[in-house]
Amino acid sequence: MEFMETKIKNEGQILEGNVLLVDKFLNQQLDIELLEQMALAWKEKFKGEKITKIVTIEASGIAIAAITAKVFGVPALFAKKKASLNLDAKSYKAEVYSFTKKQSYTIAISQKLLNENDRVFLVDDFLANGCAMEGLIKLVQEAGATIAGIGIAIEKSYQEGRKRLEEYNIPISSAARIQSMDASTQSIEFLNEE
Ligand code: G4P
Repeated sequence: MEFMETKIKNEGQILEGNVLLVDKFLNQQLDIELLEQMALAWKEKFKGEKITKIVTIEASGIAIAAITAKVFGVPALFAKKKASLNLDAKSYKAEVYSFTKKQSYTIAISQKLLNENDRVFLVDDFLANGCAMEGLIKLVQEAGATIAGIGIAIEKSYQEGRKRLEEYNIPISSAARIQSMDASTQSIEFLNEE
């Protein structure tokens, strides 16, 4: 999606250590118009699907899920990363390994919020190694729900995530696919194919 590539070029900052800083529009300050544009594009792409819920993982996925849910006219649902007293004891859980934090954590969704009648669209801000999204896929499948598609705002296509998720045969739509980026020159190349 050209609008996302343009936004990244204009307002993103490439840091050393393979990190794209997008706090001006995605990770801290939120460009709601941009998120809505992305959600509308997903709605058009998945218009044949009867989606019942937009599902993500806290924290950065929530804003994307909320706006996408508004556009699709369905609820947004997010997996929690920490056990909490508010979370029903009966919950679907999955383990996720974080490469950046070098440790595993558990994601959980209350069993009463997801079932085999749901057809869900999964969203997240970044696809890097794909462990978080893979955990979410497993959790949703454990609930017996169907996954109609995956929407990603920014995919770092040179990392393992895309390959990891392709094994599940779920359609993936990334608003921007980064082929390469270089902090020293602040240059960034995108993949054109969706
Ligand atoms: P992955 O399995 O989600 O791809 O995980 P990885 O361990 O590689 O990434 C860990 C966290 O860092 C994830 O957020 C992911 O979204 C984020 N991330 C990965 N690459 C970049 C990047 O280039 N720029 C930015 N800004 N973030 C990146 P998280 O820890 O789950 O955080 P949050 O959702 O609580 O904010």
